[in-house]
Amino acid sequence: MSEYENPRPHYRLWPPSPETITSLVTIGIAVACIAAGFAYVGGYLTPQRLTQARIIDRFEQINGVHPGFRRNHAKGVCIAGTFDSNGNGTALSTAAVFEKGTTPVTGRFAVAVGKPFVPDNETEVRSMALSFRLRDGEEWRTGMNDIPVFPVRNAQAFYEQMLAARPDPATGKPDPSRMQSFLAAHPETAKALQAIKARPFSTGFANASYNSLDAFRFVNGAGVSTPVRWSMEAVDPFVAEGQAGVNKSSPTDVNYLFDDLIARLAKGSVQWHLVVTIGTSDDATADATVAWPETRTRLTLGTLTIDRIATEAPGNCSDVNFDPLVLPAGIAPSDDPLLSARSATYSNSFRRRAAEAKTPSEVQVPNVTKGASP
Ligand code: HEM
Repeated sequence: MSEYENPRPHYRLWPPSPETITSLVTIGIAVACIAAGFAYVGGYLTPQRLTQARIIDRFEQINGVHPGFRRNHAKGVCIAGTFDSNGNGTALSTAAVFEKGTTPVTGRFAVAVGKPFVPDNETEVRSMALSFRLRDGEEWRTGMNDIPVFPVRNAQAFYEQMLAARPDPATGKPDPSRMQSFLAAHPETAKALQAIKARPFSTGFANASYNSLDAFRFVNGAGVSTPVRWSMEAVDPFVAEGQAGVNKSSPTDVNYLFDDLIARLAKGSVQWHLVVTIGTSDDATADATVAWPETRTRLTLGTLTIDRIATEAPGNCSDVNFDPLVLPAGIAPSDDPLLSARSATYSNSFRRRAAEAKTPSEVQVPNVTKGASP
């Protein structure tokens, strides 16, 4: 072969060889399968199937679209402080947050409504969301509500309940017959609502206790996995809403819950005890509508101290997705179906709000008192 001759075999472009046709068909089938997979996950092939996008669409349908705000728990304020572990948790979990010592914490207080400018009122569920920055570089995020159980046990029921509770445009109030049929189909919700209504709300954020509601699993060094639920129990004494003289100072104070919290923190830090309830094999881990028996062992693992508060702004809790599946080694999800539903839905809410220009939040800390920034 001379040095000018092409040593490679001759490639024929047209007509294609049978091998080329087979390769092209195989590539085509692979591309079609991938596209169908995306279309299925996106819900385009199954209009009846519940997806995270459809849940968020329903929040928007009910509450309106408020650009830049969370699609639920939309009205909130950022907080920061520390968690002091007493070391008791190390027998149950290898998570570094339970070793004796201090972990920095940031978080958010909110009311569980999808409307960011809703006036505070006595029956709003309140929430505490926290992000613990562990000394080994890991992170633990948790979102807790101040109710004893969750009203529904899965995402489908959550979706249906939102529609049942939706205000009728004619009356501005939910249609009682729709709620009755929902409750008839979901006796677990009727029972959970009884438990929720039986407990009065506290007067504010600072004297409320917050519960994980979902079950998780603590895993220790020997690989033993224990079902748990956790709570942040207020050190400030509980005072029930509705008692004479303890409610909002002025009926025109539309942010009285947040304003009271800001004023409380201006006086000094606020504390909660992290208490873990240890489940047994008899306790439902996949059903957040059911409370575990009062007789279960409860262990105090440490104290949360919140000493800073700030208005939501770029770079603080505003930009955090308190996904309940952001867990350090030593804390694992349970089989509760709400956990993966929450993770997927929060992510969709986060993606939408992160892409939007946000108007300033209703709660402006400097308007109440000077707070140090988290
Ligand atoms: C299928 C059931 C649920 C759905 C669809 C749902 C939906 C949402 C959405 C869309 C957000 C806003 C997320 C963001 O943009 O960052 C949110 C926030 C929150 N949810 Fe849920 N949620 C569910 C169940 C629960 C349960 C069981 C709890 C247990 C305590 C909970 C506690 C919270 C808390 C604390 C926040 C506020 C986090 C923050 O302040 O940023 N949710 N939820």
